[in-house]
Amino acid sequence: MPSTFSFPTDFLWGAATSAYQIEGSPLADGAGASTWHRFAHTPKRTHHGDTGDVACDHYRRWHEDVALMSELGLRAYRFSIAWSRILPEGRGRVNRKGLAFYERLTDALLERDIVPNVTLFHWDLPAALDDRGGWLNRDIADWFAEYARIMYDALGDRVAMWATLNEPWVVSDGGYLLGKLAPGHSNLYEAPIVAQNLMRAHGAGVQAFRASNATGRIGLVVNLEPKYAASDDPRDLDAVRRADAYMNRQYLDPVMLGRWPEEMREIFGDAWPEPGAGDLDSINQPLDFLGINYYTRGLTAHSNARWPVFARHVNNPRAVYTETGWEVYPDGLRDVLQWVAERYGGLPLYVTENGAAFYDPPTAPDGVLDDPLRVQYYREHLRAVHAAMASGVPVKGYFAWSLLDNLEWSLGFSKRFGIVHVDFATQKRTIKASGRYYREIIRTNGGALG
Ligand code: FCB
Repeated sequence: MPSTFSFPTDFLWGAATSAYQIEGSPLADGAGASTWHRFAHTPKRTHHGDTGDVACDHYRRWHEDVALMSELGLRAYRFSIAWSRILPEGRGRVNRKGLAFYERLTDALLERDIVPNVTLFHWDLPAALDDRGGWLNRDIADWFAEYARIMYDALGDRVAMWATLNEPWVVSDGGYLLGKLAPGHSNLYEAPIVAQNLMRAHGAGVQAFRASNATGRIGLVVNLEPKYAASDDPRDLDAVRRADAYMNRQYLDPVMLGRWPEEMREIFGDAWPEPGAGDLDSINQPLDFLGINYYTRGLTAHSNARWPVFARHVNNPRAVYTETGWEVYPDGLRDVLQWVAERYGGLPLYVTENGAAFYDPPTAPDGVLDDPLRVQYYREHLRAVHAAMASGVPVKGYFAWSLLDNLEWSLGFSKRFGIVHVDFATQKRTIKASGRYYREIIRTNGGALG
């Protein structure tokens, strides 16, 4: 391992958040409800019934938060737009006040030389569209393109990086197969329809971008988990192949290679719908970059009990696990970056999320909040990014998840991912030791990883 870890001078150091997790005031200024607003307000759906009603109150404290980003030395900030603030009914009438919020935020970032990286859909679908079938309705590709066009017209002259969707796998798996996330369905027949429609919407969003006057670049953000076999038993190797197809290739193959993995039929059986004519052509649009969210790997074994993929995660007794039960496995980040570059070619890559929930107290002691496990997590994972780059993988930037402790979806406020601590009783922000460390990494362009 080299003792110096310098990164290219134009490496984009950033941090990420998403709208429903931090903004609060979900119905303010004429916004419509989202599926996440409804889901969190349904009894027993989230930990302690936590909702995004207040969250980090970022909708009102955005100015202070941009100052915080500047204090951290961030060069870029990845955030998402709440579709239902822009289009309260999901389509049709535009809510100018919602749009104005993101215009103000974008301008404040630019004033501080922070590159805005916008995700159009980070899971909070307008509830009005869910009422029309949401991701199950094929028309959603047009609905999404309509919304995307409004955003390209409004911010296209100022936003350098756009992503259509965040982690489509999670929407299909968590939202429609397992029901743990909004909209909370649990239906084998719905999940693949949703997966296909998500990718059709992605393709329509990219096509709308190409037809617009926007000056930036567009990509897709996927969460990848490299799968490793728990043993060399052929049944485990087969489980790895299926698990990899289900989580990783299901979304990247159609976008990058213009085909669905063969395993989709093996996994879903007759629930895998015959894709519509022309679907793959509209999905397989050239991208300017790919965003990869990485948290953990999947050490995988065959399991008869784990329908429909028949694969399960195996615990590694020698590893550290985060508060969300994810194995800390930095080499997986290097491996997955290398795998993407090899399989899909030399597209610029960004790590658009990487980080960890560890225990931090609800109230930060005055001054520093020590979070040594998170410091170590960042050090090791950034070393892995560096190793991937040293082997020739074109990684152009890295975004820590997350800027702030926030609403971790159905886990509520019980899991803290921030490099900045948030006291949810007072909304006080305190930069954690990991935040200070990250600032040092940025200041030294990686030198502090040594
Ligand atoms: C990712 C999500 C993000 C956050 C992290 C911990 O799957 O994109 O919103 O919840 O996990």
